[in-house]
Amino acid sequence: MSKRVRTAVFPVAGLGTRFLPATKAMPKEMLTVVDRPLIQYAVDEAREAGIEHFVFVTGRNKAVIEDHFDRQFELEETLEMRGKTGALKELQRDLPSAGHTSFTRQQEPLGLGHAVWCARELVGDKPFALLLPDMIFRANPGVMKQMVEAYEERGGNIVGVEECDPADTASYGIVSRDEGPDSGFPITGMVEKPKPEDAPSNLFISGRYILQPEIFSLLSEQEKGAGGEIQLTDAMQTLMRRQSFTGVKYDGKVFDCGSKLGFLTANVAFALDREDLADGFREELRELGLTGEK
Ligand code: G1P
Repeated sequence: MSKRVRTAVFPVAGLGTRFLPATKAMPKEMLTVVDRPLIQYAVDEAREAGIEHFVFVTGRNKAVIEDHFDRQFELEETLEMRGKTGALKELQRDLPSAGHTSFTRQQEPLGLGHAVWCARELVGDKPFALLLPDMIFRANPGVMKQMVEAYEERGGNIVGVEECDPADTASYGIVSRDEGPDSGFPITGMVEKPKPEDAPSNLFISGRYILQPEIFSLLSEQEKGAGGEIQLTDAMQTLMRRQSFTGVKYDGKVFDCGSKLGFLTANVAFALDREDLADGFREELRELGLTGEK
């Protein structure tokens, strides 16, 4: 039987240059979709999937992420005094238990593969989930939960994938697949950011993984790849020679909040999903000449 996945890694060291000046002094992971920071969506998704230990690979200017996952006594007391129990409960619910968060620094911007490698001591010799917080999902159950189900059935390594516009393959890791249901099929190859003419498919890696700890030793030897960075996809491709990789074409849709368009679309979609906002927001959109209908 496969070991349970208890630990999740969140690489949050990126500079967020695409969102300047918003991200000059604030981490991009704290940008909000409606009223929740991006990182909170990823942590919520991991918790729903049964994750208990949250490992953040941070960098300079990211200290506020650590504060976000801590208690704020003054604020809690004020909310309590003012009878704002709804907001208070929400704050308390969002927080992982004491001792269940760990932080380490990437130190140098050498790429996603290097960021993941920086978590090796905190993860140890166990399978782990990896969630890239730029990517958030409209999915029920959450994408990581769907992937944990596939993992419990098949073990090995699991990669979440979705179809992209074939013109966009150079923005993502792309996989090739064998026959099998969307809930779990063999991945036969993967390549980081191929040009459309070189892409083996339009199935892209959307930032959710369950990986075996053997990835760490491969990452420590990994040469620089696409964009001059140490690429996780390259190390996974090597691991594929020794271990199984299962693709999950999950039920749901990703919003790539690393791009302005994806981020703006996510704000609209998530606001329209909110009971407390949907009607009012639709009305505003209508007044702007937009329908806001689903
Ligand atoms: C990373 C991965 C890529 C994946 C993407 C999803 O790229 O290397 O395989 O498709 O995340 O967001 P990055 O966005 O860091 O360039």
